[in-house]
Amino acid sequence: MKTTSVSCDNLPAASSLKEIKKIVVVGAGTMGSGIAQVSAMSDHEVVLYDIAQDRLDLAMEKIAKNLDGGIKRGKLSEEEKKQCIANITVTTDFLLLNGDLLIEAIVEDLVIKVDLFKRLNSQNAPDAIFASNTSSIPITRIAAEIPQPERVVGMHFFNPAHIMKLVEVISGAATSQEVANQVFDLAIKMKKKPVRVKDAPGFIVNRVARQFYLESLQAMEERVATHETIDTVLENLGFRMGPFKLMDLIGVETNHSVSCSMFDSFFQASRFRPSRIQQQKVDAGHHGRKSKKGFYEYS
Ligand SMILES: NC(=O)c1ccc[n+]([C@@H]2O[C@H](COP(=O)([O-])OP(=O)(O)OC[C@H]3O[C@@H](n4cnc5c(N)ncnc54)[C@H](O)[C@@H]3O)[C@@H](O)[C@H]2O)c1
Repeated sequence: MKTTSVSCDNLPAASSLKEIKKIVVVGAGTMGSGIAQVSAMSDHEVVLYDIAQDRLDLAMEKIAKNLDGGIKRGKLSEEEKKQCIANITVTTDFLLLNGDLLIEAIVEDLVIKVDLFKRLNSQNAPDAIFASNTSSIPITRIAAEIPQPERVVGMHFFNPAHIMKLVEVISGAATSQEVANQVFDLAIKMKKKPVRVKDAPGFIVNRVARQFYLESLQAMEERVATHETIDTVLENLGFRMGPFKLMDLIGVETNHSVSCSMFDSFFQASRFRPSRIQQQKVDAGHHGRKSKKGFYEYS
């Protein structure tokens, strides 16, 4: 009787899978716009979708501005900018979302992400790859309710996505080795530096960095120092941005959702306890740069 080996060495090479030509990016906010930009810059046909037309308009403005910055710094030509923009189609029509790879960058909420992938599943080929840009939700949990969970993978970009090189490629319990390889190779094509990560809440960066935010919030709550002082001290220590400036850049509400999700995933471990001050900022709509007010004010 012929047996099939399950050794990873015998799996088909990534190059034997369907080539990724068309990338759908769902969510045109802080991360989705940058992901669409790097996808288009690496010669892919890109569809950028959002439920809100104004987010799509803002995203395209941001992409054009980023590309202009690249031209000014001598990193790319006018021709490359034109080609990048021509590669992107924006839409609010869900029915147009068909692709070889679908990357979600929507709100950090398990139920909403699962619902999105289920809906995308009904109108995409069974071998289309579903990638999540989640910062903290285990890929295994997202994949569990999706048909063909072996094609669900984590592709975690960092902010700003068009600049930061690191991409965490996360394999959930069901993710196939070929899919992880293919997404890893794609990240290289996007001129990123991917790392393979096993599935665990917060993966590597958000797990380790959580204390950077939470301990700073705690120090501020205890009136050890103001947020400006804490930022200045940590910047003088060598961090490029202090924690409060960084939370404003990330999105205070997104950062808070990540803390809540990690607190749950680590069975309420006190080291991941979310901050009341941050909760209050979220309640007030002070989401950081995107709402012109967070820990700081922006004009
Ligand atoms: N902000 C960061 O620094 C950062 C870094 C890495 C990963 N992430 C992760 O990326 C994801 C997106 O974060 P963000 O900061 O870009 O958020 P964001 O709030 O800036 O953007 C989210 C976008 O998704 C859209 N959206 C919401 N629900 C939707 C739905 N059901 N269908 C389609 N569009 C929908 C919103 O209109 C919005 O434009 C989150 O999972 C977050 O944890 C964020």
